[in-house]
Amino acid sequence: MLLVSGSLRRLSTNTAVLRTAAAVAPPGVDAVLFDGMAGLPHFNPDDEVEPLHEAVDHLRRAIRAADAVVFSTPEYAGAMPGSFKNLLDWTIGDDRPGSIYNKPVAWVNASPRGAALAHDSLRAVLGYAHAEVVERACAHVPVTSTMVGRDGLIDDPSVRDRLAAAVEVLVGRVEAVYGT
Ligand code: FNR
Repeated sequence: MLLVSGSLRRLSTNTAVLRTAAAVAPPGVDAVLFDGMAGLPHFNPDDEVEPLHEAVDHLRRAIRAADAVVFSTPEYAGAMPGSFKNLLDWTIGDDRPGSIYNKPVAWVNASPRGAALAHDSLRAVLGYAHAEVVERACAHVPVTSTMVGRDGLIDDPSVRDRLAAAVEVLVGRVEAVYGT
């Protein structure tokens, strides 16, 4: 399972949510936080040719290696962060087996303010990408920066329970799709 944060901020609440989701995932679920967003070049269809930029290749390989993807993004100025939209744009042109096309995905909305515009846009982009949004695995789990511990994790039991439940639903869908 690949976890993709839309925030580059060192103390990001969205990244903390995904780190915590990895920590509460059931045994046997390998949840990996994607670390390459900052290194991606600006999306340009002219550059969708082999050899791909190393950072784009890394992203596409990480998605293909994952049986599901979980996103968590902040909203900036009424939209998803440009760097995150850039990452999503790079996912769409991958026509190899295992790309985001038909891949089970979910999002966690960690914003106490709702971030509705960012999430409407995320939903639209995932539709264009033909990802399978697993609705029951998507969760609104508001998190404030004070809830993030020095270890980068969230201790709050209700947050952890809700993240664990979301991951469990997504794992269930993965098992149904891949028969594992
Ligand atoms: C924000 N924030 C914000 N929140 C929101 O709900 N709607 C918005 O339009 C904006 N706009 C915005 C612009 C800028 C420049 C900043 C710095 C912040 C708040 C932001 O989404 C919030 O701080 C998130 O918690 C940031 O996510 P991370 O970095 O903690 O993951």
